[in-house]
Amino acid sequence: MAARYAQVGADSESMKGTRMQRTTRRIAIASQKGGVGKTTTAWNVAAGLTAKGRDVLVIDLDGQCHLTTGVLGAPPARSLWDVLTGSMPAEDAVAPGAEFDLLPASEMLSRADYDLGGRPGRDFLLSRALKGRRDPGSGTRAPGVQDDYDYIILDCPPSLGIMTANALAYASEVIVPVTPGLFAVSGLGMLGSVIAETIDAGVNEDLAIAGILLTQYEGGTGLHRSIASAVEEQFPGLLYPLAIRKNVAIGEAHAEGRSVLSYAPKSHGAADYTELVERLIRQEG
Ligand SMILES: Nc1ncnc2c1ncn2[C@@H]1O[C@H](COP(=O)(O)OP(=O)(O)O)[C@@H](O)[C@H]1O
Ligand SMILES: [Mg+2]
Repeated sequence: MAARYAQVGADSESMKGTRMQRTTRRIAIASQKGGVGKTTTAWNVAAGLTAKGRDVLVIDLDGQCHLTTGVLGAPPARSLWDVLTGSMPAEDAVAPGAEFDLLPASEMLSRADYDLGGRPGRDFLLSRALKGRRDPGSGTRAPGVQDDYDYIILDCPPSLGIMTANALAYASEVIVPVTPGLFAVSGLGMLGSVIAETIDAGVNEDLAIAGILLTQYEGGTGLHRSIASAVEEQFPGLLYPLAIRKNVAIGEAHAEGRSVLSYAPKSHGAADYTELVERLIRQEG
């Protein structure tokens, strides 16, 4: 699936490369905990939105490259790292995938806190690469890579370092996946305060918490139900009224390089992620 460019009637050749601005929802999937379903959620939400006719770009910000390896087989030569370090425009690093476009990760991203930490505007490297340049004279923004997409899904690493900071500075919304377990709720407060600071300090005043998403949920267990109530009590109104159930088809699908929606459309995993996608679509302005 190639990036889309506006083409108008008989003049289409001359219009090639001309982007038109569109409203792009930019959804970060964030948590400093590993194994809570960030990558799984990014992958399946992206596939579900594509299935509903939306143009979707996924950005893998995690140096572990799980999503990139899952979708492409191996991290490619061109990656988000080249984009953030300024050696390549974002469109040159985007890899077209079967279910969505992907701006792939590289292992170098694991060094981002060390190598990019001293750069001026270090939290805005991603925003600058994806939004069009602002004209200093008129103040208007030229269309950028983001204008090729209806949705950009940001798969964050399991830390609150510079890559997550870049995602939060750029996102319009954040989804926080939580896997019920003994320490499920601890850590949510810290992420919540980082999000609040991002908004209050003016880094990104447009950022909103879309919701806290229970993943690998087993509603039949008392522990899981009590964790759901604890989250609801501590963060009233933020828990999604749906959960992603534990479902073996999800892991099988990813091992095949596919979303669970295409691999096992009748599975619980496909049903739950489709429900989340339909919810996101209902919120479109
Ligand atoms: N709903 C689910 N049911 C079963 N396994 C899941 C589910 N969600 C995630 N997993 C598995 O749990 C592991 C961690 O998920 P992942 O999305 O990689 O987490 P994170 O990106 O937060 O580290 C993966 O092996 C994934 O396949
Ligand atoms: Mg991950």
